[in-house]
Amino acid sequence: MDCLQVGREGILEIGGCSLTEIAREFKTPAYVMDENEIRKNCQVYLRAMEEYYGGNGMVLYASKALSCKEIYRIMQEEGMGIDVVSGGELYTALEAGFPAKKIYFHGNNKTKEEIVMALENGVGRIVVDNMTELEMLEQLAAERNLETSVLFRIKPGIDAHTHSFIQTGQIDSKFGVALETGEAEEIVRIALRMPHINVVGVHCHIGSQIFDLKPFQLAAKTMMEFIGMLKEKYGAQIQELNLGGGYGIKYVQEDTPVDYDKYIEAVARVVREESERLHVAQPFILMEPGRSIVASAGLTLYTVGVVKEIPSVRTYVSVDGGMGDNPRHIMYGSEYEAVLPENPEGEREMTVTIAGKCCESGDVLIRDAKLPKVKPGDLLAVLATGAYNYSMASNYNRIPRPPIIMVKDGKARLAVRRETYQDLVACDV
Ligand code: LLP
Repeated sequence: MDCLQVGREGILEIGGCSLTEIAREFKTPAYVMDENEIRKNCQVYLRAMEEYYGGNGMVLYASKALSCKEIYRIMQEEGMGIDVVSGGELYTALEAGFPAKKIYFHGNNKTKEEIVMALENGVGRIVVDNMTELEMLEQLAAERNLETSVLFRIKPGIDAHTHSFIQTGQIDSKFGVALETGEAEEIVRIALRMPHINVVGVHCHIGSQIFDLKPFQLAAKTMMEFIGMLKEKYGAQIQELNLGGGYGIKYVQEDTPVDYDKYIEAVARVVREESERLHVAQPFILMEPGRSIVASAGLTLYTVGVVKEIPSVRTYVSVDGGMGDNPRHIMYGSEYEAVLPENPEGEREMTVTIAGKCCESGDVLIRDAKLPKVKPGDLLAVLATGAYNYSMASNYNRIPRPPIIMVKDGKARLAVRRETYQDLVACDV
């Protein structure tokens, strides 16, 4: 994490704030996020959009990585659009005052209520996933005498190397309509004749936490060819191409993400070449990064409780959070790195398993973490937890979710407050 520094008293700082101070003021566990780092990550994409696409496009932040009002305020200030995938994310964005026109609404199973909510709030684009949704959308738009602008979620048939749960562009996926089977062509053909549907674009997303450049280029080429075919066969002017998200980030030393700027340049080259080759105008380009905007800007701060050594087996270091605030290890076997904020540079002489406090043996955050000598009461930070942690958190074992502390230029503030026991029973009848 680039936004960490060792401060004057040898204490780890994020955004100029000492983690000891943050723990004192806000208690643990807590998600801590560096606002400047989030903004910096947005700017990488925004600059690349200017440079490689001449500004003919928009960068959408994929809300699912982290959705709360504060993040939408930051995205709005940075000039980003957003994608949402549920009524809840849409509601949060609208509550934050995010402009509806810059919202793209995704989802493989949008409910009627969610579509009505999107239509009535003037959401910019609906990314239609399937035929059932298209028919429902046409009808709901007709009833309201509206025309709605749509993109279609296409499965380009590309197998990106990543965990199978987060891979989405291949044929056997619940998302979107397939190119190979003719399903994609069929849905566009039908939509072009629908009076309340304005076909503006196509979308694909091939997966997440991808390091390889090739699948992105291949996806762009495949989508451009589809756009070319739609023009030739149906005279359809596809104005927007949404290339999804998926750029990988560095969680552990072995992760080797490429500079995003280089990825974007390489993909833009494919788009340009294909638009010339196929004689189609270069579409308005959308990108949808989620993880790469927020992951590396966040850490989770815990306090160590029990340290249990099982001789010649392993040492468990249990913290005051766990799979409730970070289910990614238990779900995907994801790897993380940890530090002791009050001894960030100590010799890493212990190999321990960092476990949570849930009643579940698999409740592990990091297996075989190397740490300096650690004892009950020490602070411990798990790094790069800014994406898909808070947004995937649960109240398993009725453990309240931690707050999100936003830090910037030496000041820390609450972005999301800690849940209370009262919150936990608030919906119980
Ligand atoms: N666009 C669409 C349509 C998506 O489905 C996703 C992620 C993104 C954009 C953003 O992808 P990103 O840039 O964040 O890779 N829970 C999993 C990740 C699931 C990603 C699902 N879709 C995890 O914790 O790794």
